[in-house]
Amino acid sequence: MRTFTMDEMIAYCNQYGYIFQGSEIYGGLANTWDYGPLGSRLKNTIKDAWRYYFIQRRKNSYEVDADILMNPMVWKASGHLDGFSDPLLDCKECKTRHRADNLIEEFDENAHADGMSQNEMLSYIREHQIPCPVCGKSNFTDIRQFNLMFATKRGVTEDSSNTIYLRPENAQGEYVNFVNVQRTMRAKLPFSIGQIGKAFRNEITPGNFTFRTIEFEQMEYQTFCKKGEDESLYEYFKEYGLEFFQYLGLSKEHLRYHDHEKLAHYAKAACDIEYAFPFGWGEINGTHNRTDFDLTRHQQYTGKTLEYMDPISNERYIPYIIESTYGLDRLVLAVLFENLVEEDLEEGDTRVVLKIKPFLAPIKVNVLPLIKKRHADKAEEIYTMLTGVMMATYDEAGNIGKRYRRGDAIGTPFAVTIDDDTLEKNTVTVRERDSMKQVTIPVDELVVYLQENMR
Ligand code: GAP
Repeated sequence: MRTFTMDEMIAYCNQYGYIFQGSEIYGGLANTWDYGPLGSRLKNTIKDAWRYYFIQRRKNSYEVDADILMNPMVWKASGHLDGFSDPLLDCKECKTRHRADNLIEEFDENAHADGMSQNEMLSYIREHQIPCPVCGKSNFTDIRQFNLMFATKRGVTEDSSNTIYLRPENAQGEYVNFVNVQRTMRAKLPFSIGQIGKAFRNEITPGNFTFRTIEFEQMEYQTFCKKGEDESLYEYFKEYGLEFFQYLGLSKEHLRYHDHEKLAHYAKAACDIEYAFPFGWGEINGTHNRTDFDLTRHQQYTGKTLEYMDPISNERYIPYIIESTYGLDRLVLAVLFENLVEEDLEEGDTRVVLKIKPFLAPIKVNVLPLIKKRHADKAEEIYTMLTGVMMATYDEAGNIGKRYRRGDAIGTPFAVTIDDDTLEKNTVTVRERDSMKQVTIPVDELVVYLQENMR
């Protein structure tokens, strides 16, 4: 059995309709990718799993869908306008731009640039004569901070007061709705607000496919609590994240924690969960203890009280926030790498198979008439019945072995074959993707059989 390299994964995603280059017919746009029919389905099954795990399964959890465009003062209050930047420098020789922290960590994988100040990074680069990854010379400008937010203008005049921003994180949409949710849901602390949605960052570094893009989707989850309960909740969500990833089928040996040394401007403690991608360990989630920083700042900037009135002690206070955030695009990529293999079969044959958990598979069942002329009508009938219950496809082209292989390659857990027995005895053959074992099932029991085996 063989796993896939990054280049092979990009080719696979393009071949089978998972992910295409963004604006491909125009030659593309760097670090943008479009999800095809299967990729967008996979995104949705992962979103459903997140909703189940975080909104449905956890008590006092509420989902919101806030706008991407927010009042620009939100970003002043949150600290993003002043502090959300990358340390960049230019190579004076070949004029390419680089992130100082990346240059250091790629030069020495044991160096931790996230613990260094701007001056320390510059001294390190100069002392070690770190070469430019493009031209190999070591002649860089000083480091400057570049804000990562995308700005745009609203209205018709090009006045700076019309500048608004595409949100760089979902979290603020949850914070500004803290009082609305608490009031309308009559929520008592601790309670959580989650949101799935797009975020945008003007990233200049190469992306590793969909790992680092300028437009991406986050599944963020904010738990509001009383100060003093924050540290145990922080530990709880670190664990819960690891459990969630295993529920999605990521194996424990491909996951690890990475505690942050240098903290974002809002955080008291921060820890990522990283996945073992072919290019190295990469962050797929973060747990942050954001203290009362965000709500305090929004209270200061709006003059509106964001305090919680404790119904038992009658105390008034600003809650602490434990954030648990997931990058959806990175999760899609991790799930693909975890499950996509080339497997050896008998007689030197091989097959590509995506061994994804059935509940995450974009297509649940593939309906196949054995012989088109004889079995197509009955197969269409069974296909129509199944589409009322689950995502199904119908495939009548080519020999049956090739049709099985295509279903295997895209991760479809079951194939249902319609043959003479279906016409005579009303039974079908169900083939399971991973074991390739086949069982005969009465058509009347097919839906229940598939549903029971879809976990
Ligand atoms: N609200 C906190 C926050 O945004 P973050 O660690 O900057 O924290 C959260 O981002 C998650 O979003 C990351 O764990 C990662 O999975 C994903 N993410 C961040 N930047 C990304 C990018 N440029 N492309 C794709 N995913 C990204």
